[in-house]
Parts: sequence; C-alpha cells; structure tokens
Amino acid sequence: MKGLTVSLVTISLILSVLIGLSLYRGGLTGAPSDKKAGAKDGAEKGKPHIGLSMDTLKEARWMRDRDIFVAKVKELGGEVEVLSAGSDDMTQIRNVTSLITNKVDVMVIVPHDGAAMGKGVDEAHKAGIPVIAYDRMITNCDLDLYMSFDNVKVGEAQAKYLVDHLATPGKGRIVRIYGAPTDNNAKLFKEGQDNVLKPYIDKGDIKVVHENWATDWKPDKAKDIMNAAITNNGKEIDGVLASNDGTAGGAIQALKESGMAGKVLVTGQDAELSACQRIVEGSQAMTIYKPLERMASRAAETAMAMAQGKPILAKSSVPNGKKDVPSVLIETTSVDKNNMVDTVIQDKFHVFEEVYRNIPEGERPRKP
Ligand code: BGC
Repeated sequence: MKGLTVSLVTISLILSVLIGLSLYRGGLTGAPSDKKAGAKDGAEKGKPHIGLSMDTLKEARWMRDRDIFVAKVKELGGEVEVLSAGSDDMTQIRNVTSLITNKVDVMVIVPHDGAAMGKGVDEAHKAGIPVIAYDRMITNCDLDLYMSFDNVKVGEAQAKYLVDHLATPGKGRIVRIYGAPTDNNAKLFKEGQDNVLKPYIDKGDIKVVHENWATDWKPDKAKDIMNAAITNNGKEIDGVLASNDGTAGGAIQALKESGMAGKVLVTGQDAELSACQRIVEGSQAMTIYKPLERMASRAAETAMAMAQGKPILAKSSVPNGKKDVPSVLIETTSVDKNNMVDTVIQDKFHVFEEVYRNIPEGERPRKP
C-alpha cells in the first residue's frame, strides 16, 4: 500500500512537472499577441541560443562545468553565450539583462547570491525566457528548473566521514568552516552536517571549538578562520569540517604554517586536482566527487529541449521559498585515498600520473 502511495505520488509529481513546464512554454509561445517582449518566434529562430550566467570561474570546477556545457550545446546544434560575474551581484544582474537583450531562448544561471538573483528570474520571465538554476538554487521566485546535486547529502557525507575517521571515532574537537553565506548550497551543506553532528554534540562527544563562514568561498578567508581557531585552541584540534576543497586548501595552509598539517583530519568537496593530490599525500582526508560531466551535459540537453519548447521531465522537486521547483538531483561520492583510483581516476576526472605526481613510483597504487 505504501509502495502504491509512493508510486502514485511520484506519477502525479512527474505529471505536474511535465504539465507545468509545458503550460509555461505554451503560455509563452502561444498566440503572438500573448508573447512577451523579447521572446522569439519559432520561425525566426535559427540555432537555439542559450545564455549561461556564471557567478565565478575561480574554482577549477566552474571552468569544467562551462566547457562541458558549451561543448554539449554545440554538439546538439545550439550556441551559448557565457558571462561570468566575478562574484559580484550587480555585475551578474547586468549580465542577465544583457543576455535578455541578446534574446537568448533559455537562461542557465549559477547565482552568486541565490536570493538577489530572484530579480533576474523575474526579468527573464517578463521577456518570455525560462530559467534553469544550475548547481545553486535561486530563492523566492518562479524558477522553472533546478539542476544540482543532493547538497544536504553532501554535507551529511562530509560530517559522517569526519566523525567516523577522527583518531577516536565519534569524539573530538573540531573546527567548522562554512561556505559563502550568500550561496544557498553553503546553507544546505551546513544543514546536512548539522544532521549528522547534532547527536554527538548533544552528548558532548564532539565539541565545535571554532566556526565561521568563508565570504565568497575564499581560501584566504578560510585560512584566517583556521588561524583564529589555532590561536584560540593551540594544537587541541582533531578535525576541520571544511565545506569545499578551496576552503580546505586555505585551512591546510594555516595548519602547515603551525606544523599541524597531516595531523588534523580535513574534509573538502569538488575533487579538485590539488585536493586529490593533498589526499594521496596525506594533508587532506577526503573530498566529494561530483560528476560534472553528467550534470553539465544533462543541463545542456535540458536547456536545448526547453529552447525547442519540449516538455521537461523532473522526478523531484525542491522548495525555494516561493514554490516547489521541479528538480534534477545527481548523486555524489565520498572520495579518500582508498577509493581515489576507483572513482575520480576510473571516471577520467583526473589523470593518475597527475594525482600521484608527488608520490614515489614504488608507493603508488596500481594504475587501472
Ligand atoms: C558548489 C561547490 C563549490 C562552491 C564554491 C558551491 O555552490 O556547490 O561545488 O565548491 O560553490 O564555488
């Protein structure tokens, strides 16, 4: 009975998502008199024109997301206009306005500030352009689709790894470095981490000795947070729950300068090459591998389908404060030195020789 209820709920969700998106496109591309300014006529359209508005290209992952997305859209016969905002809200709103002026058919946005970008979605809609939030949610607006990873699960996996791998599993003094307070994902990672840590903190087994948010996910800011933690606690720190590889790198730099690197467990996320190297060398314990190839190509396929007015299938939905946004969430994997070869290397995310560059040949694992 429960199974039946779940299936019925799933079927009705899929139908409502399908119908919702078809109606939305239908509404926009219906009778010419219904059309909003800026929307293009099917007949006038040449190649589908997709706008990609990015927060930043700073972390290595975002260049990869962009390159995969652009290549896939091209392969499918479309073209992409990419604008990056250098972590600035005003610039990103200007970029969105310029993509609207250039009459993109679909807008894909990685928002710097998920709350501030609601305005961008409203503006795009006025011009008849549907919007996909890529990786980061855009809150309190009538967003069309959200494509990301299960970010609460990412936070849970980071905290679970930390708890299980402390020198005394389940016990210790930890530092927490959260991401950018403007990024909805940073809040979701924290929520997942909180889910796992709460019972340990309540029992007094885990003590958070220092915590702070790293503005714009800056490694330098993470380094400052770690230095403050070291100043207050000396060497009495067992683990650092850093929310991504960039902030892990900043924290590890501070630990290195205090002679503590390799002695304190540090988490991360993104499977950046530098983080994978730190993992096999021993100064970082783990990262989260997000299969960007799958996500960026799927987003490109979806954007192209939307541009051609096809209905979109989304199995789940995530609330954004205004509505339950049809969502596509992709699974991630925890990676440490034990499964590095079977995950990121096997998947050709990184090359074996680069990850193990600083490990003497005799000490490297077998190449796949
Ligand atoms: C992404 C992370 C990334 C961080 C900093 C987050 O929204 O989910 O993968 O490390 O932004 O760019």
